[in-house]
Amino acid sequence: MCGIVGAVGFINPKEYIIEGLKKLEYRGYDSAGVAMLSDNTIKIIKDKGTIDHLATLLPECFDTDLAIGHTRWATHGAPNKTNSHPHISKSKKISIVHNGVIENYLDVKSFLNKHNYDFATSTDTEVVVNLIELFYEQNGDMLTALQKSMRILKGSYALCIINVDDPNSIYIMKNCSPLLIGACEDFTLVSSDAGAMTKYTDRFIELSDLEYGKIQKDKVEIYNINGQRVDKVATKKNLEDLEIDLNGYPHYMLKEIDEIENVIHKIISQYYVDDEFNFDKDLLSDMRRADNIIFIACGTSYHASLVGGRYFEVYNKSASIYFASEWAFHPTFPGNKPFVILISQSGETADVIHCQKIINEHKIPHLVITNTDGSTLQRNAMYYLLLYAGREISVASTKAYVAQVALLAILSRALGDIKQVITDLYKCIDIIRDIRYHWQDKIKDIAMQIKDIKDVFYLGRGYDYFMALEASLKLKEISYIHSEAFAGGEIKHGPIALIEQGMPVIIFITDPEITHSIRGNVEEVKARGAKTFTIARDSLSRETDTIIIQEYPSYLSSVAVSPFAFYLAYYVSLFKGYNVDKPRNLAKSVTVE
Ligand code: M6R
Repeated sequence: MCGIVGAVGFINPKEYIIEGLKKLEYRGYDSAGVAMLSDNTIKIIKDKGTIDHLATLLPECFDTDLAIGHTRWATHGAPNKTNSHPHISKSKKISIVHNGVIENYLDVKSFLNKHNYDFATSTDTEVVVNLIELFYEQNGDMLTALQKSMRILKGSYALCIINVDDPNSIYIMKNCSPLLIGACEDFTLVSSDAGAMTKYTDRFIELSDLEYGKIQKDKVEIYNINGQRVDKVATKKNLEDLEIDLNGYPHYMLKEIDEIENVIHKIISQYYVDDEFNFDKDLLSDMRRADNIIFIACGTSYHASLVGGRYFEVYNKSASIYFASEWAFHPTFPGNKPFVILISQSGETADVIHCQKIINEHKIPHLVITNTDGSTLQRNAMYYLLLYAGREISVASTKAYVAQVALLAILSRALGDIKQVITDLYKCIDIIRDIRYHWQDKIKDIAMQIKDIKDVFYLGRGYDYFMALEASLKLKEISYIHSEAFAGGEIKHGPIALIEQGMPVIIFITDPEITHSIRGNVEEVKARGAKTFTIARDSLSRETDTIIIQEYPSYLSSVAVSPFAFYLAYYVSLFKGYNVDKPRNLAKSVTVE
């Protein structure tokens, strides 16, 4: 879950390395470093902290045309200077940056110990660089050393490797972590993400799993694990899809929440064309045939799955919803004709990828819903649907969540040709605009009231409960306030014991069928001293409610009301002075299990 960049043949590549790494900070940001090769020596500058901090340690100009860089999200070893990348081999001849996790690094470490290698760090990466060095010293050829290492290493890796004996090449190696080469006129780039290279090129070569090779100023060589040369041509990508710009906003999260209404327009325009649903016919018939829809996802995408599960019940189908990290170790396919939906904004979440492998092995039909065209999940999918939400940079997922729910609403209704869903979604856009333009001050006011509080509860029933789960995740993720969501009816079975005088409880009241019950829960927590904030639908509202939302169909609660929850989390984090887009300990793409 780290980001890597490299440049060869690029005179003074400082700007690319720093700007490229900044674009990769969504993959991790607890430490960073650069290795450069000049005068037969590898110079490494690295430290704990952000890319901005790293930039202050670097020389004005890089006296080299060959450099590699890294931004880290710690997996093995604390996020400190010693464990940060690049790492260097025992002889100081080879240096490496790594994204991924080497599962058998302890075995490899013991193997290397027997060859007189000692280790200065707690990382799996230091093991890799020394393994490559051992094989290089045995046969004097880097490509052979990579091939031999690939046969031994288990796990995920995207690697850039430099060697003082070959100042004209960056060696590369990949398995289960993305690695792309950027083809440019006078030099060659490499990175975990095309987005880091868009200033220089729109043509990219994507490495497949278990491929390795070397890049030079004007040449790319790629081989498969059997040592056979693989011919790959650079393909053009649409730079607009890759660009990431704040457009004057102070944070990506605020920009992305504000984009939600456009995201809904976009999704409607993709999946409802000329007054007809626009989906692959085979996908629809496979789904119609299924008697159980199995959802597998993580985090926010899991919350969207909870909503989606209920959407398919309209057709007398059952739904089973699982956390990917749980299902992967206890795979089960309930139903006689199961159909699986995997949801992942990034399309690179390791837990979900693990599940997809199992599903493909069992040949169960499945659909991937992702925001990332070209992602691993999409590439290995039987069917896929894109969210068209535009790139989401903030670690807190907002617009992608709304897109996931909106798409699930459209897809589920497409099974029965129920076109009302489109009108309903347009109605949600009005409500989203209302929250954005009329309720922001009120939301800021609530944020001020809860920002210094230790614990917050969210309550809801039915669709509002799913909304509450997502609202609560968002708050804890970026404000570090302990927050929990409960189904209204459950609080009296335990959690109500935690209510103390003045404790904020945020309650969603948008479903006419359960208003009476949730209002009862409001009274129960109030009676124990809670400070309640109620978000109610107009026709169900009371004068004492905190925020009143215009009318909309309850099944779209997560589309219409989620901007409230997102703005609230945003302002609490902002008022506490935290890094809204890059909360501590997290990363945008969770590419390790
Ligand atoms: O890319 P994915 O949708 O697979 O990511 C899943 C979770 O890691 C993600 O939703 C996470 O919970 C978000 N940071 C929540 O805002």
